[in-house]
Amino acid sequence: MAITLKNPELIRSTPFINGEWYQSKSSKSFDVTDPATGELIITLPDQTEEEIDEAIRLTHTAFHDFKKLSVYERSKCLRKLHDLMIENLDDLARIITWENGKCMADSIGEIKYAASYFEWFAEEAKRMYGHTIQPTNQNNKVLTFKQPVGVVGLLCPFNFPSAMGARKLAPAFAAGCTTILKPDGQTPLSSLALAYLADKAGFPKGTFNVVVVSVDHTPMCGLKFCESSLISKISFTGSTPVGKLLMGQSALTLKKLSMELGGNAPVIIFDDADLDLAVDQAIASKFRSLGQTCVCANRIYVHAKIYDEFANRFAAKVEQFKIGNGFEEGVTHGCLINDRAIAKVEDHIADAVSKGAKAIVKGGRLLELGPHFYKPAVLINVTPDMKVCHEETFGPLGALIKFETKEEVLEYCNDTPFGLSSYVFTKDLNTVWYMSEWLQSGMVSVNTGLFTDAALPFGGVKESGFGREGSLYGIDDYTVIKSVTLGNIYM
Ligand code: SIN
Repeated sequence: MAITLKNPELIRSTPFINGEWYQSKSSKSFDVTDPATGELIITLPDQTEEEIDEAIRLTHTAFHDFKKLSVYERSKCLRKLHDLMIENLDDLARIITWENGKCMADSIGEIKYAASYFEWFAEEAKRMYGHTIQPTNQNNKVLTFKQPVGVVGLLCPFNFPSAMGARKLAPAFAAGCTTILKPDGQTPLSSLALAYLADKAGFPKGTFNVVVVSVDHTPMCGLKFCESSLISKISFTGSTPVGKLLMGQSALTLKKLSMELGGNAPVIIFDDADLDLAVDQAIASKFRSLGQTCVCANRIYVHAKIYDEFANRFAAKVEQFKIGNGFEEGVTHGCLINDRAIAKVEDHIADAVSKGAKAIVKGGRLLELGPHFYKPAVLINVTPDMKVCHEETFGPLGALIKFETKEEVLEYCNDTPFGLSSYVFTKDLNTVWYMSEWLQSGMVSVNTGLFTDAALPFGGVKESGFGREGSLYGIDDYTVIKSVTLGNIYM
């Protein structure tokens, strides 16, 4: 099924390099397919190592002029890109649904979310403040200012084809960095559409480049980025194993890195929580994009006193989901990205059931809808020895675990190498404080399942990575502090 857009020019079939739609000479190509139908969307060139090198070189050349552009000019381009995204909201959302499979409501939400990063950093661009510092020598003065780190490589995932690129590009551009983005080979069209709009928004030539490579050649491109001495920083969103690999590969060139890696988010529902709110918000957190976000609930801990009631209400709501092609009216949840994603959910269910968990909503493939549709599952009697408590499912499985005390649940929650997000539901301020203080995660969300926002410092601790995206801190990851000492000042 081909989709119709108000502006068909948003669909691009070539990389965007140095302000041009680049005609690749690669003898190889790759197909982008609709995960809902398995049908071909487009065939793109699979760029070669030489072409990636050339793109890096051009991005580097562009940096020298770009850093001279005033922050006010940069701010105007960012604001304009925000406005263009909103003007093209429906088309951009349709592109996401087509290549990623999420439902239109989620895609529209994603485009608004992506655009909000450009709005936010249009403002933050002007606030790259420095300090004046008095050093020990009374006759010297120290000034600091923030400078752009240089060329930044942006490595983006499939789950938010527009927003993850936007969250990296906006602060990088605000800081004065030039960027080269590699989208996931399964979902490259949203990044190419972003490049088209960035060009219209007046982003100078070479400041935002998009290269395209197949999933199979992604390791080659990652290695090129890491080993290039022309790239000063890499910002990666993806799995922890790949983050570790990139970090190792970046050692030789000592790159600045931002790593937004895997999670294993616990949701903790205390017996005093507003149950209706907790059920709705746990569902929102667990099943957003069908469980394919790094901050999705992975383990849902429910106090023993309300466990059965919570489980019944949770299951009843999941049964009401309308699974289907993301373009269809009324569909609440689309499909998963590929077979591997489904296999992981099935593996976690099989493991849990073999160890005593019980399915109160039986999940399973919905092949009659298409190759990657899956009915979400809900398990009760889940225990800490099960895989679902230790590995990120990244799919539609609600796993409910019983607990008795806050000390006990805290221990379960922190018993993981990951620490991206956690959720707490309670009306007790002391419990809120206790959990917020001791949960080992970069972000704690209290009484809400949806917390991400351009104003929030997004990022993890432990093996969920480092660096913060969005917020007043987001620009820091793209800057270096220069200290200037003014000596021998006498008054
Ligand atoms: C992610 O999955 O990493 C991003 C989630 C979000 O920004 O809401």
